[in-house]
Amino acid sequence: MTFTPEQFVASSIVKYGKLNEYIQEKLVSDFSAIKGNMLMAEGLKNYIKENLETLKAKQKIEILDIGPAIGALSTLFTLQALNEFGLMEKAQIHLFDVSAKVIEQTLNCKFFFPDSIIDPKLKNPIHQKLRQAKGEVGSAENLPWKNEKFDIVLAGFLFCCVHDSVKPSIAKEMQRVAKKSGFIGIAETLEKKTFSSPISAKLLEKLFKDAKIAFKSGKSKDEAYIICMEK
Ligand SMILES: C[S@@+](CC[C@H](N)C(=O)[O-])C[C@H]1O[C@@H](n2cnc3c(N)ncnc32)[C@H](O)[C@@H]1O
Repeated sequence: MTFTPEQFVASSIVKYGKLNEYIQEKLVSDFSAIKGNMLMAEGLKNYIKENLETLKAKQKIEILDIGPAIGALSTLFTLQALNEFGLMEKAQIHLFDVSAKVIEQTLNCKFFFPDSIIDPKLKNPIHQKLRQAKGEVGSAENLPWKNEKFDIVLAGFLFCCVHDSVKPSIAKEMQRVAKKSGFIGIAETLEKKTFSSPISAKLLEKLFKDAKIAFKSGKSKDEAYIICMEK
């Protein structure tokens, strides 16, 4: 896929981690977000290939997207990856965000992404999945689900938006709600102009002690990097 700068997605960013520390919501043209999410989808495809029979045997594939922002870019790429393996039908999406507006607009499909990042044939099925998704509002330091609920846990550019003090609890919660052998996907950036609180891959890996790294990519200062893990 190739993009023109105009096609870079506009995503809603709400800065900072806690409800009462909400500072601003703004639209950014966000190339890193697309790049990071595309890389994360590659990591997910590797995982799907390795676990295809197990995933096929499941009635539902439970997916949690934490901090989806309006449009849930990570979910969008995840559904397209699942579709390549005939697994999209099984997806049950859960969206969790500190912003009620993010949840409301995404579940009602009040967003636009360019055709270059959504296969036009999949636009309706993806919108249908989002309309059927379950949305919850809160801060990711406390996720409202039991242990080992999800097959896939995603956090695209979440850690770079939350205060350093809450990063360890968020990582712990993500590992708690992921199923054993489940997939945890993280896309991040070290770019400081847009994101208030970037974290290095090395530090992030330290926070995910319960998971084994399956795939990682990206190094340069301004680019997105991803870490995909299996619990
Ligand atoms: C940069 S956007 C990420 C967008 C999208 N996931 C992506 O990959 O492009 C960060 C999102 O995290 C949400 N967020 C920020 N702090 C949060 C927290 N403590 N708990 C849950 N969501 C949070 C914001 O509201 C926003 O939707």
